[in-house]
Amino acid sequence: MKIVDIHSHFFPKTWPDLAEKFGGDDWPWLRHEQVEENTLIQNKYAKAMLMKGQQAFRPIYAACWDAQVRVEELDQHGIDQQIISATPILFAYERPVAQAEYCAQLFNDAAIEICQQAPGRLFSMAQVPLQDADAACREASRAKSCGHVGIQIGNHIGLRNMDDEGVITFLQHCADEDIAVFVHPWDMMAAERTKDYMMGWTVGMPAETQLSIVSLILGGGFDRISDKLKICFAHGGGAFAFLLGRLDNAWLHRDIARGKSQHLPSSYLNRFYLDTAVFDHDALQLLINKMSEERLMFGTDYPFPLGEQQMGQLIKTAPTLSDSTKKKLLADNARHFFSLDQ
Ligand code: CO
Repeated sequence: MKIVDIHSHFFPKTWPDLAEKFGGDDWPWLRHEQVEENTLIQNKYAKAMLMKGQQAFRPIYAACWDAQVRVEELDQHGIDQQIISATPILFAYERPVAQAEYCAQLFNDAAIEICQQAPGRLFSMAQVPLQDADAACREASRAKSCGHVGIQIGNHIGLRNMDDEGVITFLQHCADEDIAVFVHPWDMMAAERTKDYMMGWTVGMPAETQLSIVSLILGGGFDRISDKLKICFAHGGGAFAFLLGRLDNAWLHRDIARGKSQHLPSSYLNRFYLDTAVFDHDALQLLINKMSEERLMFGTDYPFPLGEQQMGQLIKTAPTLSDSTKKKLLADNARHFFSLDQ
């Protein structure tokens, strides 16, 4: 069994000064800590501060940009293959399309370079300028031809949810071209009220993901988009599975809660996948009960502090899962979803 982690993030070690190129004072960049000698040991612990303009955003370390460090850590945890994707701060959905398209190509090509340093171990998902469906489709097709195994998108573009026409057009394109899509929450709601205690991550993100799945279902997305679409949502779908009963109940008893969906929300569960980054055996069991063992894929959110620190242990130590279920979650479902055997 080759264990595949489908949810991890990277940053290139450096990239062009986007503020200088495009103007503006809130572009992402890395402020690297100085190291005296460039040995591997020091590189392994090399740290950088992810900056947004002059604001410190998040401390990160060499695993983000150094394939060798990453693979060493994967080896320590028995992970055979990992799919890396950008961190949402790099999406640039709020910028002019041309700038977002430039960023997508820049970071997508950088991801391929990292993966080329660990052939057969590291794979990548690309980002696209999702604010413009034509540009997003163009970059998705280019990325596939460059070797990316899928596309990661943010779960909304400003006020536009997953039921947005442009997003649906993009998803249909991905269905037509057999491009797998991974939806990651970002730009979390209620920012003013969740700014303390990392509540944007612990409360806002799961709410964002629930909102995405609900809006795609009720907006009629799954009724309109080909069932060939392979789409997966991060963090176990956030709050979705736990609150599915509430959603079905609303659909049954209020016609305005049905939107454009033709069927009960719970009848669309065979149309999407979730990752397993839920950090709790009961939550994992709930996902299996609702989604089935065919629709879940192992994801860690490596190499960040809110990811699974002992990668793979949640599934490996799950008391109620059979070996064959664990194998599907850890390996088989992802190999199929991302066509890794081709
Ligand atoms: Co993530």
